[in-house]
Amino acid sequence: MGSLRNGLILAGSILLLGGAVQAADVKGRVKEIVTERCSLCHGVDGEAATSVYPRLAAQNETYVVKQLKDFRDGRRKGTMNEMARDLTDDEINGLAAYFSGKKPQSKRPLDVDFAAVGKYIFHNGNRYSGIAPCASCHGEAGRGTEQLPRLAGQHPAYVEGQLMEFVSGSRTNDKSIMHAVATKLTTLEMKAVATYIGGLE
Ligand code: HEC
Ligand code: HEC
Repeated sequence: MGSLRNGLILAGSILLLGGAVQAADVKGRVKEIVTERCSLCHGVDGEAATSVYPRLAAQNETYVVKQLKDFRDGRRKGTMNEMARDLTDDEINGLAAYFSGKKPQSKRPLDVDFAAVGKYIFHNGNRYSGIAPCASCHGEAGRGTEQLPRLAGQHPAYVEGQLMEFVSGSRTNDKSIMHAVATKLTTLEMKAVATYIGGLE
């Protein structure tokens, strides 16, 4: 009996040990993927190299997981399809945890008057053209929720680019809500709201 019990305990600890080694493996692998791949465009700390690449620092974890799976499986199309093609679910979870844990940053908008127009749209929408306030979904501070993207501090050029993609339908995943919102925005409103968002902390 004693040796059977010892055997079971031994088998149990090997299983536990195996789990721990696997978790450490994924962590190491995630670091490697970040250094060799993601950092080229998004920076090691999720601070994008140029403003056409989105900031990933402090982006909501569940949202990042969903976007990476959408890129991997072709539901969202673009440069990222190639980058996400060979990622496993574990690596995607690890990458999302890594970037969402980074500190957010923001830059003060240069054009304060223009940002103020964006601020109005963000918090009040435009009731004459039927635009809901961005804040009603993305939050008063623009931090989103687990599922909804954080907008605060995002590069204005990226935000504007995505809004245009929602209009044209070239952003193919979950486009119904944002398509309805973005098609009603004028160019002035789009640029102004993107400017305001970039300055949110
Ligand atoms: C060659 C440049 C490049 C590399 C390398 C790259 N990305 Fe991207 N990434 C982009 C671009 C460009 C976008 C914006 C979406 C688009 O236009 O296709 C993007 C978008 C994203 C998004 C969606 C952000 C959002 O707010 O919706 C996530 C998440 C992401 N990348 C994660 C990663 C991860 C993780 C890696 C490493 C495995 C990586 N990217 C490597 C260029 C790159
Ligand atoms: C009814 C809810 C709702 C409203 C109102 C709304 N959004 Fe969104 N927004 C979403 C959802 C949901 C997504 C995520 C789509 C996805 O999962 O791909 C999103 C995504 C986005 C993205 C892409 C973010 C990224 O990181 O790629 C931008 C930019 C954006 N919204 C801007 C705005 C702006 C600006 C407004 C106000 C003019 C606004 N949204 C109003 C629900 C909303």
